[in-house]
Amino acid sequence: MSATRAPLDRVAVLIPTYNERDNIVPIVARVRAAVPSVDVVVLDDNSPDGTGAVADELAAADPQVYVLHRTEKAGLGAAYLHGFRWALERGYDAVVEMDADGSHQPEHLPGLLAAAQDADLVIGSRWIPGGAVVNWPAHRKALSVGANFYTRVLLGMPVHDATAGYRVYRAATLEAIGLGEVASQGYCFQVDLTQRTVRSGLKVVEVPITFVERERGESKMSGDVMSEALKRITTWGIGHRVGQVRDAVRREPRWHQL
Ligand code: GDD
Ligand code: MN
Repeated sequence: MSATRAPLDRVAVLIPTYNERDNIVPIVARVRAAVPSVDVVVLDDNSPDGTGAVADELAAADPQVYVLHRTEKAGLGAAYLHGFRWALERGYDAVVEMDADGSHQPEHLPGLLAAAQDADLVIGSRWIPGGAVVNWPAHRKALSVGANFYTRVLLGMPVHDATAGYRVYRAATLEAIGLGEVASQGYCFQVDLTQRTVRSGLKVVEVPITFVERERGESKMSGDVMSEALKRITTWGIGHRVGQVRDAVRREPRWHQL
């Protein structure tokens, strides 16, 4: 089945950080233990708590750990775009997106990478059978379920966890989906790239994961992140539905010929 897709020999695990000082050491150790062949790239937005300096110590001790220092907090999407460019320039076959706080368990990574042998994008999904969320308050669960429902209805995508942040992208996928036009800064970046991948006709596979809420540090989810997501998803949704109506109208002459 995987004959048409290139093997994933070189994989970069991208970990965006903003104030994750207490999380960065254990998460990097768990990734390196779970899949020793992968490289780890920390994308730090000049965290005031000194996460970047701790990551530098990890990089100094391990040639498979890198740190990209960014100047200021500019959102998850911007940090990932930087990491994608870095990995593509260096010839990696695939990149992994993973939160720093332990919510995305590195022990799931072998399963996600195996699925990527026959997929262009693999999503670690909370909202399919076998998926789960541990320790989320009811309002946070409602937000994720609601955002995914809204996204599915508006964008008509056959994806159950479009906001998920634990993913494997093949390099060829990143090259195909027009990263240069991506304007999403916050967490709607995930929906944006899901949409681009689906509309490019690429194969998305969801693999169930158990998402474990962080034990240390704080979520960076904010009102700004939510309102950017709501605005952008609504705009994309209207564009998508208008496009469908236009297509239907264009097809109409064929009906008259019948
Ligand atoms: N460099 C950088 N810059 N990193 C950031 C920024 C930023 O502006 N904002 C957040 N991060 C990092 C955090 O340090 C963490 O490693 C990761 O991005 C996720 O941030 P959290 O704040 O822990 O996210 P969450 O747990 O609330 O949200 C999770 O669920 C969302 C909705 O399903 C994540 O998995 C999101 O990716 C997902 O969209
Ligand atoms: Mn988190």
